[in-house]
Amino acid sequence: MRTFILLSLTISATTAAWNQHQVQLGKAAAAGAVVFCLSTAPALGANVEAGEQIFNTNCAACHAGGQNVIMPEKTLEKEALETYLTGGRNEAAVRIQVTYGKNAMPAFGGRLGDEDIANVASFVITKSKFGWDDDAWNQQAGKKLGKTGRDVEAGEQIFNANCAACHAGGQNVIMPEKTLEKEALELYLTGGRNEAAVRTQVTNGKNAMPAFGGRLGEADIANVASFVITKSKAGWDEDL
Ligand code: HEC
Ligand code: HEC
Repeated sequence: MRTFILLSLTISATTAAWNQHQVQLGKAAAAGAVVFCLSTAPALGANVEAGEQIFNTNCAACHAGGQNVIMPEKTLEKEALETYLTGGRNEAAVRIQVTYGKNAMPAFGGRLGDEDIANVASFVITKSKFGWDDDAWNQQAGKKLGKTGRDVEAGEQIFNANCAACHAGGQNVIMPEKTLEKEALELYLTGGRNEAAVRTQVTNGKNAMPAFGGRLGEADIANVASFVITKSKAGWDEDL
């Protein structure tokens, strides 16, 4: 689906001038918005937030921040789960290990119900996708980022309405190399990959990117900048 949207955007942006294709791009932007909305639903209906509580109560003593205080190489990071978890990195494998234990890890089958175990497994797999990065996690969970005081969720709406036509999925339909991915922002964004630099570019525009200073207020620009930086940390991953 993402490939399809990007392809149609690329075709409409390159076959004719931007102005003549606002209608088509508007449709594509709406499609992009659908993808963003779907992206917040956790897989399999497990309750990831409930899983977080179970984790803090039962697992964090040994696995705070996704680490492992007893066997330091056996973390809950993506690569370690792929390497060490019996059955590979998936929720069913986590459920089995939590239920029955393994070596120095105790069994939780007698202490936690099936639903709690499913939720905590979903939490572990979801966090491993984000590299246990709290900012990316807060954004994905739809929480506000206390650290910066920005409203990332509001920023997502601004993005869908104003930016997704050219930048759906963090891509760039006009200058394909100048994406909103981490590496591209580090390379091309004037001032480097940070919120202030995004705010400046959104306010003033740059080459084929229009200026939004006259159209969006400062709070909106701050929120959309925070959304862009946060998404770049999570690799604009839409499956999560
Ligand atoms: C007393 C410490 C302790 C507690 C509490 C604990 N674990 Fe573990 N955990 C371990 C150890 C030790 C291992 C490595 C086991 C092995 O492979 O020998 C491990 C491994 C894992 C792995 C596989 C990681 C890998 O890289 O192999 C997962 C997933 C996991 N734990 C999830 C959980 C969850 C979820 C909870 C809470 C319900 C939990 N653990 C509670 C000690 C603990
Ligand atoms: C009409 C298409 C268009 C729209 C709409 C648009 N941009 Fe852009 N954007 C571009 C182009 C083209 C560039 C590359 C500018 C250059 O460096 O020449 C760019 C670059 C960027 C960059 C730097 C990326 C990089 O790798 O250099 C950021 C950040 C950015 N845009 C954010 C936004 C945000 C946030 C919005 C909405 C408020 C937005 N853009 C709306 C076309 C657009």
